[in-house]
Amino acid sequence: MDRIHITGGTPLNGTIPISGAKNAALPLMIASLLTGDTLELANVPRLADIAALVRILGNHGVDHMVVGKRPGQTTETGQTIRLTASNVIDTTAPYELVSTMRASFWVIAPLLARFGEAKVSLPGGCAIGTRPVDLLLMALEKLGARIEIDGGYVVAKTKNGLRGAEIDFPKVTVGGTHVALMGAALAYGTTVIANAAREPEVVDLAECLIKMGARITGAGTPRIVVEGVARLNGARHEVLPDRIETGTYAMAVAMTGGDVILENTRADLLHSALDVLATTGAEITQVPEGIRVRRNGAGIAAVDVTTDPFPGFPTDLQAQFMALMTLAQGQSRIRETIFENRFMHVQELARLGAKIRLDGDLAIVEGVERLKGAPVMATDLRASVSLVIAGLAAEGETQINRVYHLDRGFEALEAKLGRCGARIERVRA
Ligand code: UD1
Repeated sequence: MDRIHITGGTPLNGTIPISGAKNAALPLMIASLLTGDTLELANVPRLADIAALVRILGNHGVDHMVVGKRPGQTTETGQTIRLTASNVIDTTAPYELVSTMRASFWVIAPLLARFGEAKVSLPGGCAIGTRPVDLLLMALEKLGARIEIDGGYVVAKTKNGLRGAEIDFPKVTVGGTHVALMGAALAYGTTVIANAAREPEVVDLAECLIKMGARITGAGTPRIVVEGVARLNGARHEVLPDRIETGTYAMAVAMTGGDVILENTRADLLHSALDVLATTGAEITQVPEGIRVRRNGAGIAAVDVTTDPFPGFPTDLQAQFMALMTLAQGQSRIRETIFENRFMHVQELARLGAKIRLDGDLAIVEGVERLKGAPVMATDLRASVSLVIAGLAAEGETQINRVYHLDRGFEALEAKLGRCGARIERVRA
């Protein structure tokens, strides 16, 4: 298995291009199942999760084409792909494919809405808590689907198509909102989604669906209204910038010190996280190319955070922020409210010398003066990148094992950091 070697202690200086958001690209690709026309998506990151979804869509019969490179594009500028679901041959998403990535479960919504049936394996994905799908199924049932669980599969059917309904989520769920949006887009009548997720990726999906002919208002607010239409058409859409990648590199700079411009990204996608980062002492400014992050000399101030649905502090940046707080002056309290069991990075950070105590959903981090490199193991996507950040700031060498988690979510990580002066390399197994 590949490993990443980091020799820490060098500040980051330069420019990092931010990729398209994985968490937007996935539902957008899935939305291609809603139409027989071609959906062209630009700025799609090159990631293992994207490749896995291409295989899953291919298994349904979706044609996939990568559009040729244009002048000026590098391997780090996202790819443009065309997806055409004109000839769907199979409405089953098998266990072997779905178990590698949780978001692939969402294919259930467009398959059901367009073909009246879907059989989708219960999902796998990051080992961060139980992550049930009850609310996704509740949304589909409200839209009129009949649902059974059979041999590890969810079998969903509808007789005369989905019907508009009131869907009131008892808990904010990003996946639930995606599923409700895609189902409602082709349902007969009006759907109101209450307590909807407000994440930018939900807005991006809604905007793409609108280009495809869907009638949706209120995306980005807790109340989304969808007037169902009989059919959707093709469209071209550019995936929005990855706010988690943006926040991750911003935290890396805040931790190592230096001066980096994060290109092709937007501060409004993660204002609460940037506010927190500014409170720790990083200087954050908007520049025409994107966001500039600087920290020169001064220490890192300890700040408390609680993860929350958007616009709150994202759970997907919790591990990275904890890495930063290990070097803060004083105590920081980090509460995780979205996923149980999302503190698997704690014991690995401890191997670098971090002092962290866990108490239920609360991590209490006592800042230390320095971290020291060590061999560590990546446990999930965001946890593994927190180890990269910590390794960049630690003295000496850090070796990160099981880096396939990183490849699921961070495009060209070593190249992007290496160009800013980080001493980081991948050792192929
Ligand atoms: C998405 C993101 C993930 C992020 C998460 C929260 C993608 C591909 N993944 O995951 O990176 O960490 O949002 O911002 O976009 N829940 C239920 N029942 C359900 C569904 C969810 O109880 O049927 C719970 C979950 O266990 C969790 C909370 O709701 O506690 C939020 O989960 P959700 O927003 O659905 O996360 P995902 O969409 O899976």
